[in-house]
Amino acid sequence: MTCAVKTQDHRMAELKTFMEQLRGTPRSESNLIAILHKVQELYGYLNREAMDEVAATMQIPTAHIWGVATFYHYFKLKAPGKHVIAICLGTACYIKGAGEILEKLKDELKIDIGGISPDGMFSLEEARCLGACGLAPVMMIDGKIYGSLTPKRVSEIIQGYRKLEAASVKSA
Ligand code: FES
Repeated sequence: MTCAVKTQDHRMAELKTFMEQLRGTPRSESNLIAILHKVQELYGYLNREAMDEVAATMQIPTAHIWGVATFYHYFKLKAPGKHVIAICLGTACYIKGAGEILEKLKDELKIDIGGISPDGMFSLEEARCLGACGLAPVMMIDGKIYGSLTPKRVSEIIQGYRKLEAASVKSA
């Protein structure tokens, strides 16, 4: 049976293979950034255990790696919520009411952009264009696009995720 979710071991093995491929190339800041991108791709954020592995393998002081990571806003230093919501604030979406959609999300989730809901279920991020301008205003949850949003529809979508979570907890 195959497992769609990568385990901690699989992710670490993939990270080690990735770093192995960079061995022999000149040690540079761009190599380190590529590795940090890989860590974030695998874990969703810069996981401490993975960062320790990067420091040991690349023989770079951990403090230096964290220094690079914190310089770039792209890197996430905290584990994201179970579901990652990206609200599009690009021009097409903004004109079609993305500001109102954002306010509704903040209200529903009790967080601001960059935050994680108190129940750990949702992270809220902003995007500048999700490539679906014809459906504006748009948000994406875990890679799935939701378009033609209204505040009411946002509420229904969030409630839908909460109901699914409650049902999966009951059946576990
Ligand atoms: S501006 Fe929002 S999808 Fe393009």
